[in-house]
Amino acid sequence: MNFDEIQSSKVKHAEEVLKKYLPREQGFQKKVLEAMNYSVMAGGKRLRPILMEESYLLFGGKGELVEPFMAALEMIHNYSLVHDDLPAMDNDEYRRGRKTTWKIYGDGMAVLAGDGLLNLAFETVASAFDMAESREEMKRTAQAVKILANKAGIYGMIGGQCADIEAGTGQEMTKELLLFIHENKTAALIQAAFMIGAVLAGADKEAVAAMEKAAYNIGIAFQIQDDILDVTSSKEVLGKPVGSDERNHKLTYVTLHGLEESREEVRKLSREALHILGSFENRSRFLEELVNSLITREK
Ligand code: IPE
Ligand code: IPE
Ligand code: MG
Ligand code: MG
Ligand code: MG
Repeated sequence: MNFDEIQSSKVKHAEEVLKKYLPREQGFQKKVLEAMNYSVMAGGKRLRPILMEESYLLFGGKGELVEPFMAALEMIHNYSLVHDDLPAMDNDEYRRGRKTTWKIYGDGMAVLAGDGLLNLAFETVASAFDMAESREEMKRTAQAVKILANKAGIYGMIGGQCADIEAGTGQEMTKELLLFIHENKTAALIQAAFMIGAVLAGADKEAVAAMEKAAYNIGIAFQIQDDILDVTSSKEVLGKPVGSDERNHKLTYVTLHGLEESREEVRKLSREALHILGSFENRSRFLEELVNSLITREK
């Protein structure tokens, strides 16, 4: 199988895992369940659960312990997008080639769908404790839950989104602030993917820290590329509106440094991440190719 074929089979697998944990649309709260499934099942690259499983495999992880965490991370990612698109945040009407959740279900239901996904994520990882087969696996599971909560929360994604909103209100943008925003709103969930995969597989502290650093680089590069595409791509290719950052007066890496320097930074950060990934005893060709493919991604 070539890279594209392996990647589609990984996407399919991630979606199968995700579906196991998504709610059935029934009961008086049916609307919010529909809105949750609408946003999660709209497609997307499924990058975070795939990175998590690759990290798990890289460190010798076996069995299904990683699965509830894969599903939970994708739920959290999707909740962050549902809220990010709201009129009160980026006010965007398209994502993954279709109308955003608030456009279909209304603001109130979109807020609740995001809240529902976040809660379901933690209910889902709680089920990993029932799957753990030893005290050691219990401890790893507890550590993984902590990482997920930390990287998704006020010291991670939410913290980054907070600074992102404030930076749109005329505050002076420095390189330091921009890095804080990228590190937290975007890199944090990618760090959660790599770190949780490694922790659940029993990797040692040094390896987990190295994975955190690699994911930092990948995450920053990923957001710079997102900001590049917001300027250079089209709604048709991207599946979401272009020019969103300019419309919201967002200062990005691109506005600060220009397109060429931004592209160079994506390459540099990705090279450093690949260097780290290449330094472990085991190597994953697929994982390295996947990280490399993000440099030139078009959506
Ligand atoms: C979009 O993430 C939000 C950012 C952090 C830039 P993705 O580009 O991974 O979105 P999907 O899940 O593939 O749609
Ligand atoms: C990252 O930033 C979003 C989240 C952390 C949810 P953007 O606002 O640039 O993401 P897109 O471009 O809407 O996907
Ligand atoms: Mg945003
Ligand atoms: Mg946005
Ligand atoms: Mg963007």
